[in-house]
Amino acid sequence: MNKFINIAIDGPSGAGKSTISKIIAKKLGFVYIDTGAMYRMVGLYAFEKGIKLEECEKVVPYLNEIQLDIRFFEEGQKFYLNGKDVTTDIRQNEISMYASKTSAVKEVRQFLFDMQRKFAKENNCIMDGRDIGTVILPWADIKIFLTASVEDRAERRYKELIEKGQDVTFEQILEDVKKRDYNDTHRDIAPLKPADDAIIVDTTGNTFEKSIQVLENVIRENMK
Ligand code: DC
Repeated sequence: MNKFINIAIDGPSGAGKSTISKIIAKKLGFVYIDTGAMYRMVGLYAFEKGIKLEECEKVVPYLNEIQLDIRFFEEGQKFYLNGKDVTTDIRQNEISMYASKTSAVKEVRQFLFDMQRKFAKENNCIMDGRDIGTVILPWADIKIFLTASVEDRAERRYKELIEKGQDVTFEQILEDVKKRDYNDTHRDIAPLKPADDAIIVDTTGNTFEKSIQVLENVIRENMK
């Protein structure tokens, strides 16, 4: 049993999990834990080591060299890989694919498993990812599966990257989102799927504000 309230939010890439979870966590006074960022840090490490995307399992012997750190600031969280602030670097499109590939490696998932559980056992938290309700926090008080159509998700991701000044096309992002969906749902270990007791929230066609409102209502109703 856990004396802290744990809310698990899973879903495919680009469903708005992290942006929405961050806002709701702040309103509730909970800690927000972005497990995707942890996989992104491992993916970035593999990339920087010169490991090819198709050979991401080669990161395994280096796992004991990887020190991940999440620090919480008033303006948000920062992510540190071996002491270096990689908050911006991990959001690059190329690193998304590396994160998706490295996250299919059993040893990588084991490496992050304890860290993720420890956060949840020590904090009222909203944790988002792909296997939070199914594997990491099966005891979560509320489990949500947040999704939207692949076109809506690609559109959001595309706008986000363009705003950050990255040179990408919508078609490329749509293709990437589809590939990541495939990787995330077809891997052998901890594939993306709703927990049996998850509440499915589909935000297709919603404005961002509407999606926050819907999710917040679901959470507040289920916390009673
Ligand atoms: O949520 P995100 O897009 O930042 O996640 C990056 C990748 O990490 C995603 O393709 C799947 C993987 N991931 C995972 O396998 N399990 C998690 N709990 C979180 C992310």
